[in-house]
Amino acid sequence: MEPFPRQDGVLHAEGVSLEAIAAGVGTPVYVYSRGHMEHRYHALVAALEPRGADICYAVKANSNLRVLRCFAELGAGFDIVSGGELQRVVTAGGDPGRVIFSGVGKRTDELDLALKLGIRCFNVESAAELERLAGRARLHGCRARVSVRVNPDVDARTHPYISTGLKHSKFGVAVTEARELYRRASADDALDVVGIDCHIGSQITDPEPLLAALDGLLELVDELRGDGISLSHIDLGGGLGVRYHGGTDAEDFDVAGYGAALNQRLAGRPERLILEPGRYLVANAGVLLTRVEYLKPAVDTAGSHFAVVDAAMNDLIRPALYQAWHDVLPVRAAGAGAQQRRWSVVGPVCESGDFLAHDRELSLAADDLLVLCSAGAYGMVQSSNYNTRGRPAEVLVQGDRWQVIRRRETVRDQLAAELPDGHGAALGPGALER
Ligand code: LLP
Repeated sequence: MEPFPRQDGVLHAEGVSLEAIAAGVGTPVYVYSRGHMEHRYHALVAALEPRGADICYAVKANSNLRVLRCFAELGAGFDIVSGGELQRVVTAGGDPGRVIFSGVGKRTDELDLALKLGIRCFNVESAAELERLAGRARLHGCRARVSVRVNPDVDARTHPYISTGLKHSKFGVAVTEARELYRRASADDALDVVGIDCHIGSQITDPEPLLAALDGLLELVDELRGDGISLSHIDLGGGLGVRYHGGTDAEDFDVAGYGAALNQRLAGRPERLILEPGRYLVANAGVLLTRVEYLKPAVDTAGSHFAVVDAAMNDLIRPALYQAWHDVLPVRAAGAGAQQRRWSVVGPVCESGDFLAHDRELSLAADDLLVLCSAGAYGMVQSSNYNTRGRPAEVLVQGDRWQVIRRRETVRDQLAAELPDGHGAALGPGALER
């Protein structure tokens, strides 16, 4: 499914012109295709047949309430890493009984909330956390369902900031320590040992390290069974990579191959499989739509031509933080014979790290609309108010209908936490809106 087709030279989100969306809500704005999210979800479900798996969407990738509701309607559970994300899931209509709670630093109030709502499982990451969780469950007179996050010491071969499965990372516990934790947990009547989990990293393009991690987990599961501890699920985390460079969907992570390999390895085993994909389900369903404010030709042949756009590193930090690549496309295709140049696409933020793309062959004029592709995952969720810039609006498209699912943030929103009510009047009418 092509979520952003070009019709009569103009880029669309499904059946809606991106020019119409820019005219309606302004720029910068994140635009998501609901059809593509559904398509990805169904593709993953199909790849995991016949055994099947529980897909717990990783909320951190894109936590807009309407996006969460879409996955709840599709039948997904959720992987969360904070009390805030849990409250988003419940607000969106998600079932807390299908929520898995990951993360190395769960606070006491977050554990309490999750216990109260009866989540499916706590993915425990240390002996200290296990002890605190047992204490809270005892206090509340309930039992906490637990899984131990094992660090299988596998290299996910991805960017170091998003690689999490190596021995010295802060995540999970070593296989050797895990066995002891399981013994302790199974002897504690405030805990119910239900699973095992790992997550070795993100934007993984080859299934091989994920399968190596599974092999490590299976060995431990069998040892635990020998110790009299049987688990009901194996959670392999997320990490499935996507295509960021142009081309076709064929270059994406091979879910069919991954599914077949999982089916083969797990054949005849009683444990239920859980996956926690985020990026795979939403990255290519989203673009960041932005407008060119100014063009600044290079000062000399050694310099870059700059296209200064109205989106910046505060809206999409992935290029600055991970040197990530996002394709840049003009919304209106350049006419035949238009002069192309190599542009750096930069934002208004006051630092040279504020770039969205370097060295792109484009034919540009001031006021042109551009999109940064593959921005549906880890885009809006990592945005900030740096330079007192309001975070962008978000739009969800379905067929030929579109809807604002988060309005643009105003200066009033930003000042609200710093000022008592009623301030800002001195600025006069119309102030604080953008
Ligand atoms: N489960 C756990 C425990 C995780 O930590 C993550 C992501 C996921 C699942 C989902 O991983 P995914 O399927 O999306 O790869 N901000 C970075 C990505 C950080 C990923 C953190 N953990 C980026 O923009 O590339």
